[in-house]
Amino acid sequence: MFLVFKDPSAVAQFVSERLVQLIKDKPAAILGLATGSTMEPVYERFCQDVKAQGLDVSQLSSFNLDEYIGLSADHPQSYHYYMNRYLFDHLNFAKSKTFVPDGTPVDVELHCEQYSQKIMDNGGIDLQLLGVGGNGHIGFNEPGTPFDSRTHVIDLSVQTRIDNSRFFDSMDEVPTRAVTMGMKDIMEAKQILFIATGANKADVVAALYASDYDEQMPASMLKRHPNTLFIIDEKAAAQLPASAVQRMA
Ligand code: F6R
Repeated sequence: MFLVFKDPSAVAQFVSERLVQLIKDKPAAILGLATGSTMEPVYERFCQDVKAQGLDVSQLSSFNLDEYIGLSADHPQSYHYYMNRYLFDHLNFAKSKTFVPDGTPVDVELHCEQYSQKIMDNGGIDLQLLGVGGNGHIGFNEPGTPFDSRTHVIDLSVQTRIDNSRFFDSMDEVPTRAVTMGMKDIMEAKQILFIATGANKADVVAALYASDYDEQMPASMLKRHPNTLFIIDEKAAAQLPASAVQRMA
């Protein structure tokens, strides 16, 4: 069942409320965080709500899903930079506890292994935010990624590179590889909020609805997660049958 909100702003309000509630219930919660256009209004709203309610986020830890290989943390298109810009720099996060995969590690295989291990050592993710790619990817787990994968290096698909080229000056500058948290790491999160907004997500949302549990449609793995909410807006819901949606205020 997809929860359908009027627009990205209503989606952001709902997601922020869930995050705020989690922080109140568990101040030292572990968040799983995503980047991309979908998350921008979510983080903006969350920052507003945290400030308005005078909440302390300094005990939180967070693990980001992914990072481009070859981009250092201070590169404006790196996901590390994105997180500082849209979230971490606005609130009193303890940056020593905000983890983003390293795009320029000395030993990338070792880094991947240690990243998944660190999530487990911290007790696992309490709440995971997920966007979805046009081809159904979650994190940068492209179609065909095994559902039992841990953090790994992925070759980005042509579609993903084209989709993300809007952030770069030219297609040549879009990295070809990334480090991504694996499907199993995501599946082990205690709660997942899957978020899709905008007309450009209507096709993939319809494909997800029609798909079985299938590694060719990575987001379909979430259909077997015990605590995932599928949160979308009207435009992303455009091709869904009425029986698949629950309209939210
Ligand atoms: C980013 C990530 C990706 C994006 C997805 C959608 O950290 O994990 O899966 O969520 O590519 O991106 P936007 O929101 O830009 O459409």
